Amino acid sequence: MANFWIRKPLEQLLAQAGDSEKGLKRTLGAVNLVALGIGAIIGAGLFVRTAAAAAEAAGPAVTLSFIVAAIGCAFAGLCYAEFAAMIPIAGSAYTYSYATMGELVAWIIGWALIMEYALGAATVSVAWSEYLNQLLGGAIPYEWCHSPFESEYKVLGDAIARFPAELAEKAKNGVLFLNEEQFAALATDLKGLVAVQSGMINAPALLILLILTAVLIKGTKESAMLNAIIVFIKVAIVLVFIIVGFQYMVPANHTPYMIPEGTPGHEGLFKHGWGGVLGGAAIVFFAFIGFDAVSTAAQEAKNPKRDMPIGILGSLAVCTILYILFSHVLTGVANWTEFKTAGKEASVAYAIQTYMKGYEWLGTAVTVAILAGFSSVILVMLMGQSRVFYSMANDGLIPKVFSELHPKFRTPYKSNMILFVFVGLFAAFVPGSMAGDLTSFGTLLAFVLVSAGVLVMRRNNPDQHRPFRTPLVPLVPILGIVICAGMIVAIDPFTLKAAFGWMVLGLVVYFTYSRYHSKLQN
Ligand code: ALA
Repeated sequence: MANFWIRKPLEQLLAQAGDSEKGLKRTLGAVNLVALGIGAIIGAGLFVRTAAAAAEAAGPAVTLSFIVAAIGCAFAGLCYAEFAAMIPIAGSAYTYSYATMGELVAWIIGWALIMEYALGAATVSVAWSEYLNQLLGGAIPYEWCHSPFESEYKVLGDAIARFPAELAEKAKNGVLFLNEEQFAALATDLKGLVAVQSGMINAPALLILLILTAVLIKGTKESAMLNAIIVFIKVAIVLVFIIVGFQYMVPANHTPYMIPEGTPGHEGLFKHGWGGVLGGAAIVFFAFIGFDAVSTAAQEAKNPKRDMPIGILGSLAVCTILYILFSHVLTGVANWTEFKTAGKEASVAYAIQTYMKGYEWLGTAVTVAILAGFSSVILVMLMGQSRVFYSMANDGLIPKVFSELHPKFRTPYKSNMILFVFVGLFAAFVPGSMAGDLTSFGTLLAFVLVSAGVLVMRRNNPDQHRPFRTPLVPLVPILGIVICAGMIVAIDPFTLKAAFGWMVLGLVVYFTYSRYHSKLQN
């Protein structure tokens, strides 16, 4: 009978960490690690979700939403830092759980991390494709940049006048786009006037995944270099937006700061006032995902004991400051109510084009920053996923092919290639909207377990040397658990059901394959 609670001895993990002759190469310094964190962190969350959180829940107080989400992440980040410095091997939350809460919990978290990293990479690659098409002025044919499950509904020219006025007035340049619900609600004769175009494959999403997979296979150092260049570009453009936008802020846009009670459409508890700030925090939480990916690279850090905490907490701190300033300026330049209808995904470009006359080029620069930003998010997510798989394969829980290193580059190249196929299938054929919240679920579950892991490890191995100690234990880990568990509860029920289904599938794999192949069990 297998022992599902079997724990990997700390000594064994530490021995693995010391053995860098055969394993992954130690090439990353503190600056690389902070850059890797920022690379994974700044992306769709900032550029797309800031306006969404302001419009749906928080109003200008979306700045406070960022602070709330950052506090939740900081508690978890402090716990990650303790582990990453103490057990500097690949695998992150999965590895820490194996040492503290046993094999089954480790498996569960490893499985959940697939939602964070692999699905996260797929989601962001779909968004990348959307922005590329926007930068190219919509030149990519619809069927080549959408999944088969998406359709576009278009009405052209004179036919528009026959549609209900509230729809017809939304037409731009002689074209009226309808969404699925609007199309479904039409009378049959009007439906006949709509040109329906279905997607086929999301080719740009596949392309960016392929390029980044190739970079990852070439080497961690090369990947870190590409990441550093991208981070420089996106941070520079964020800073320019903050500095220039500051002069275009209108104080009236910030008054009142929170959405007042009784505002139509904001009746729910989490849609106005302080509740809205919390609702907004759940939306912008996505913007912080990625700082934990730094810990997956622990086995490639030159001096993990010192640099892991710097990488994790440093990237979190830099991004938090940028986020607060950015959201303050964005809601100061354009009124939050406009984001309900205008701009949507391209909210930042909308604000620039509408209010910052003379800086239209900045709108294009922001789109470039977004594309660059998304690329580094995908890069680090793919890297994180392959490092988690690397550890799981070394432990025998998934097939050995995931831990085979390239003879020259010493990267897990087979794993990278398999991941490309898996993530690529998702990106090419599944609509992007579905995966975003699952990413948050996987991440939050990892945060909860890592925070709990610190408590367990302090009890079981109190004397182990800890180069970085989480402050105020047990308060900080407990708050980490409570806040992150709270955010899980706030995720919409449909996503929770899908996540549950994924976790059940994981258990089936564990009980039919992994437990029999586990090296520790045998
Ligand atoms: N934090 C990453 C983003 O916002 C996932 O795109």
